Amino acid sequence: MADYIDSILKENRVFYPSDEFSRKSYIKNMAQYSKLYKKSIENPEAFWAGIASHIEWFKKWDIVLRNDMGFFKWFEGGYLNACYNCLDRIVKSGRKDKIAYIWEPEKGESKTYTYGHLLKEVCRLANVLKNMGVQRGHVVEIYLPMIPELPIAMLACARIGAIHSVVFAGFSSDALKDRIQDSKAELLITADGSFRNDKVYPLKDNADAALKDCPTINKVIVVKRAGNKIRMAGGRDFWWHELVNEKGIADFCEPESLHAEESLFILYTSGTTGKPKGILHTQAGYLVFVYQTFKWIFDIKDNDIYFCTADIGWITGHSYIVYGPLANGATIIMYEGSPTFPEPDRFWRIVEKHKATIFYTAPTAIRALAKEGDEWPGKCNLSSLRLLGTVGEPINPEAWLWYHRLIGKSKCPIVDTWWQTETGGVLITPLPGATPLKPGSATKPFFGIVADVLREDGSKANVNEGGYLVIRNPWPGMLRTVWNNPDRYRHTYFEKFGVYLTGDTAKIDEDGYFWIMGRVDDVIKVAGHRIGSAEVESSLVSHKDVAEAAVVPFPHDIKGQAIYAFVVLKKGVKKNDALKEELKQHVAQHIGPIAKPDRIQFADDLPKTRSGKIMRRILKSIAEGSTDYGNIMTLAEPSVVEILAKNRVG
Ligand code: WTA
Repeated sequence: MADYIDSILKENRVFYPSDEFSRKSYIKNMAQYSKLYKKSIENPEAFWAGIASHIEWFKKWDIVLRNDMGFFKWFEGGYLNACYNCLDRIVKSGRKDKIAYIWEPEKGESKTYTYGHLLKEVCRLANVLKNMGVQRGHVVEIYLPMIPELPIAMLACARIGAIHSVVFAGFSSDALKDRIQDSKAELLITADGSFRNDKVYPLKDNADAALKDCPTINKVIVVKRAGNKIRMAGGRDFWWHELVNEKGIADFCEPESLHAEESLFILYTSGTTGKPKGILHTQAGYLVFVYQTFKWIFDIKDNDIYFCTADIGWITGHSYIVYGPLANGATIIMYEGSPTFPEPDRFWRIVEKHKATIFYTAPTAIRALAKEGDEWPGKCNLSSLRLLGTVGEPINPEAWLWYHRLIGKSKCPIVDTWWQTETGGVLITPLPGATPLKPGSATKPFFGIVADVLREDGSKANVNEGGYLVIRNPWPGMLRTVWNNPDRYRHTYFEKFGVYLTGDTAKIDEDGYFWIMGRVDDVIKVAGHRIGSAEVESSLVSHKDVAEAAVVPFPHDIKGQAIYAFVVLKKGVKKNDALKEELKQHVAQHIGPIAKPDRIQFADDLPKTRSGKIMRRILKSIAEGSTDYGNIMTLAEPSVVEILAKNRVG
C-alpha cells in the first residue's frame, strides 16, 4: 500500500472538465456543488424528500427518516414498486419504444429490449413465479450469467415483492450453497451453462451439487443458454422458455404495492471473519439513492448509450446496470463475456459498434487492457464517448492517465466512484461537469454524505493523515441490516465509533479530496472483486493435506491485489509444486476461480501470539517482500518470521 501512495504523490496535475461539458451538465461548477452540498447536509430530510418526489409512489411517505435503535428507516408509510418505477413509469412517459438493454453476447448477434418489451418479459416471468407459489417476502436465488434473463428475473421478483439474492455466476457450488443456506431461498433461477472465452461453464451442474445440501429449494427454473447437456430433476426443474410461453401466462402482472422498508434484495459480500454476510437493501431508499446518484454522477441524458462492464452478480451491476439506469430510462449496454474475447479490443469494439457515450469499468480492466498495447483502442472509433468512470478499487495514476488519454482522448472526465455493497450506491465521487480531477482520488462526498477520517481513538485525523474512513450520517441507500444477523450489522459497522465504519482507510488532503488507501480488515480486493481471507483459508483447510492456512494480499501489477497463502501441511505430506497447483484448483472449485491464490508458500509454522492468534500483519509484510514487521517479540516463536521470509515465494 505504501508504494501505491507514493506513486499517487508523484502525479500533481489537476484535470478540469471542458466548458462545453460543464455547461450541459446537471451540476455545472463547484460553486453549485458546494451550495447544494451545504443544503443537503444541513437538512438531509428535506433534501432527500425532494429527490424522492421524482419517482412514483402509490402512497406518499409519512416520515422521511427514523432511527430505530441504530437501524435506519427511510420513507416509512410510503408505498411503491421498484419494478414499476424502472419500467411502467418509463413506458408511461412515452418511452415504450426506447431501448432499455442492448445485450452483447460473447459470440453472435446482439439483441435489444425496448422498455415496452422488457416490461412484458418481466410480467410474464412474474406471473410464472406467482404460479409456482412465490409470494411477497419469499427469497428467490438467482445464479445466472450476464444474459437478459438476469435483470428480467430480478425485476420480476421486485414486481411481486419477492426478495432476490443474486449469486455471481463465477462462484462455484460451495459458494452458492452457503448463500442459499443462509438466505433460505425457496426457488432458484439458473442456466444450463455460461460462456466465457468461448468455453462453457456448467452452471446447472454447480447448482445441482449445491442443492444436495439446500433443502429449502423446491423449484428450479433453468434458462437454456449454452446448450450443454444437463440433468433435469423431474418435478423440481423446469425450463424457463417453456414456463413463460405456456398458454395462459398473461403479458401483464399487476405490481405489488410495497412498503418503503420491505426487503428488495440480499447480496452477499465478504467481511472480516467467517462466511459472507447477506447485505439487505430495501425498496424506497435504495431506489431513490441509485436513481439520483446515477443521474448526476453519470450526467445521464435521454440520448446517452451507457456501457457498464461490471457483472450484475456484484453490487455495481445491481445499482448501475439494473435499478439506477432503468429508473432513469437510460439505454444500457450489457456484455456477456470476457474483455479479451476474441481479442483485447472487445470493449472498444462494443463502444464503437453501439456508439456508447458513457463507459464505466474497474481499474483492473484498464490496467489489463493497457498492457495489451495502445494499438487496440487506437484501431477503434471511440469518438462517441463523453464520460468515463471507474469503480471497485483504487486507480493508480498511470492507469488513470492511460484511460484519460487513450480512451477518453483527453476530453472525457473520469468519475472515480468510491462505494460498497453496503452503501447501495456511490458516496464519494467527482461530479463530471464540476469537480476538478486529481488522478487517484475519488474526490468529494456526494450530496447528503458526511464522510470523515478518524484516528484509532475516534478523533479527527489531520489533513493528509491516514485513518479510518467513516460516514457520519445515514443516507437512503445504506444497508438496513445483515440478513438474519442484526448483531453482526451493529458490531461490524457501528460498534467502533458509533458512526458507519466503511472498513477502508483514507486520508483527506488540503483541498478536502479523499484518497482511499485500502482495507483495514481482512478483505482482499482481487481484480476489484471482494474476497474474504477467511473464506479462502477455510477452503484451503478443507483439503485433506492441509493443517492450517493464512491468507494475505500482495500487490499485483494488474489485479491491484492478489492472494498469497501460507499453508501448513499435515504431518508426512510431501511439499511439491504439484500439490500447490492442486490446492489452487481446490479453491477455484470450492469458491470460484477469482479466489485462487496466486502464490502458495508451504510453511512449518506460522507467526502466532502466545495466545495462538495468527499475526497476519507480519505475513502481509513477508508476502510484500518488506522487512518492516513491526514488533515481533510478542510472538510465541519469533524465529519463524525469518524462516518464512527466507522462503518467500515471489
Ligand atoms: C473498494 C464495490 C478505491 C473499497 C462498489 C471498498 C474502492 C470496497 C473504490 C467495496 C474506489 C470501491 N477507490 N477503492 N473508487 N470503490 N473500492 O462491496 O475498498 O465490492 O470498501 O463494492 O471496494 O467493495 P464492494
